[in-house]
Amino acid sequence: MLSQAFPRLAARASARVSPLQNLGKARFSSTHAAPSQSIFASRTAVAGSTAIAAGSIAWYSHLYGVPSLLPEASANSAAENGMHPTSYPFEHYGPFETFNHQAIRRGYQVYREVCASCHSLNRIAWRNLVGVSHTVDEVKAMAEEVEYEDGPNDEGEMFQRPGKLADYFPAPYPNEEAARAGNGGGLPPDLSLIVKARHGAADYIYSLLTGYCDPPAGVKLAEGMNYNPYFPGGGIAMARVLYDGLVEYDDGTPATTSQMAKDVTTFLNWAAEPEHDQRKKMGLQALMILTSLFAISVYVKRFKWSYIKTRKIVYDPPKPARHGPL
Ligand code: HEC
Repeated sequence: MLSQAFPRLAARASARVSPLQNLGKARFSSTHAAPSQSIFASRTAVAGSTAIAAGSIAWYSHLYGVPSLLPEASANSAAENGMHPTSYPFEHYGPFETFNHQAIRRGYQVYREVCASCHSLNRIAWRNLVGVSHTVDEVKAMAEEVEYEDGPNDEGEMFQRPGKLADYFPAPYPNEEAARAGNGGGLPPDLSLIVKARHGAADYIYSLLTGYCDPPAGVKLAEGMNYNPYFPGGGIAMARVLYDGLVEYDDGTPATTSQMAKDVTTFLNWAAEPEHDQRKKMGLQALMILTSLFAISVYVKRFKWSYIKTRKIVYDPPKPARHGPL
């Protein structure tokens, strides 16, 4: 009856526990939360997470095929995929390394004297070489050796003029058909982005240029094809082009096949990523700034939290009533 009339009072009375019991709890109440039920004890949680995991794997496989950790059957043989290139220690590979600019300069010479007769480098202008591999005057002189069509002039006619810094590298062929006709049907690709466009990047280009050999027994090549195990399929329309002593470097470096391949690969890597040196420099600066900011924020956080972390909370339980419970 009483509890019906005074529900609050009744609740308070029944909630009252012995002060000793209370003390035991109160001591730790600021640091220990009530023990919660483990997530693994809940069947719904376990069944739910299993369903989510299985569902995501199924969805991934539906979109992209078999997950990469499982073996996959392939219709291609290893030869059809091309041999995996060796990983070479190019000077610019480290996280803090820039390009070897002497190699870019020599590589330009190899490109100009050997590759440029078949391959264009459409995205590179003469001005891009300035300060990278050559001086302004050197580049101006090189550009002026090439004739470019310009115009129209006052009479409305196109005319030829020597190249300027702003002109792009001249292409060896006027169009794709001419390029194919000059190479037995094979199209020499533009080399501007070739390092980025091929799996294996610089390692692949170097391996390709130095990897020509006789076809192994049983391999039949189509007419006019050359064998190179690094090229997918093995038969490539480009013949071996680099031979010891093919070019004469101004800095006296011996022009071995591997030296020329390394230099031209470094040059092509620069052509594909001219921002490379700047990018790594900025990355390092960003790392240093962010590290300092992180250190400062850790300090400030500890400073601001210090009095919260070091305070002590003591619970002073109410004294038992002198005449016992009401
Ligand atoms: C005589 C012409 C010729 C010369 C010189 C030449 N190439 Fe090629 N190159 C080709 C042709 C043709 C192809 C296309 C091959 C194919 O698709 O089978 C090709 C393809 C390539 C490829 C692409 C391979 C791929 O994975 O698709 C690269 C890279 C390459 N050449 C680099 C060079 C470099 C570097 C030089 C100079 C050292 C050079 N080439 C000199 C004709 C030439």
